Amino acid sequence: MSNKLDGLALDQLFRTARTRNGWTDRPVTQEQLRELYDLMKFGPTSSNSCPARFVWIRSAEAKSRLAALAAPNNAPKILAAPVTVIVGYDLDFAEQLPRLFPARGKEMQAYFSDPLVAETTSFRNSSLQGAYLIIAARALGLDCGPMSGFSNEAVDSEFFANTRIKSNFICSIGYGSNENLFPRNPRLMFDEAGRFA
Ligand SMILES: Cc1cc2nc3c(=O)[nH]c(=O)nc-3n(C[C@H](O)[C@H](O)[C@H](O)COP(=O)(O)O)c2cc1C
Repeated sequence: MSNKLDGLALDQLFRTARTRNGWTDRPVTQEQLRELYDLMKFGPTSSNSCPARFVWIRSAEAKSRLAALAAPNNAPKILAAPVTVIVGYDLDFAEQLPRLFPARGKEMQAYFSDPLVAETTSFRNSSLQGAYLIIAARALGLDCGPMSGFSNEAVDSEFFANTRIKSNFICSIGYGSNENLFPRNPRLMFDEAGRFA
C-alpha cells in the first residue's frame, strides 16, 4: 500500500522545483551521487534494459572539456555547477540482459540486438532514466539544470570514444541559486494536452 505524498513533497518534486541556471558554491559529494544513482536506478525501463550510462563531470579539467563542446549560453553553467552528468545510452545494452532479466535474458538479448530496435529502445529508455534522475535528485534536496544545447558528436568523441555509448542530454546538479532564474512559464492545461477516450 502506498500513500499519496504530502503537498510539501509534491512541491519539492514538481510544483516549486525549477530548472536552475545558477549555482551556489555548496559542493556535491561522490557519496551523494552514488545515493542518487542508487535511487534513480529503480525507475522502470523496457525489459529492465537499463541502457543509460553516466559520466559524472566533477573536476575543473573535465568541466572545461565539456563546456568547450556546449552552446555559448550553456558553457558558463557547466563551469559553475558542482557536477554536470552526461546521460548517455549504450547501443550494446542488450549484452547485459542475461544478468538484468535472468528469466528470459537470452531471448531478449537476441531481440534487442537488432540495430533499429536497439537504437529506439536505448534512446527512449535513457531519456526516461534521465527524467528519473531529475526527480530523484529533487527528492534528495538537489537541484537540476538539464541541457541539450551541445554537440552530441563532439561529446561522444570526447567522453565515449571507442565505445557504442552515445550522449542523450546533460544535466547540471547542485544547489541552485536564483541567478538567471526566469519567471515560471505556463504549462498546457489537461484538456489541451490530452483527452479521454
Ligand atoms: C532535455 C532538456 C534539454 C534542455 N536544454 C536546455 C539548454 O540547452 N539550455 C537551457 O538553457 N535550458 C535547457 N533546458 C531547460 C528548459 O528550458 C527548462 O527545463 C524548461 O523551460 C522548464 O523550466 P522550469 O523547470 O524552471 O519550469 C532543457 C531542458 C530539458 C528537459
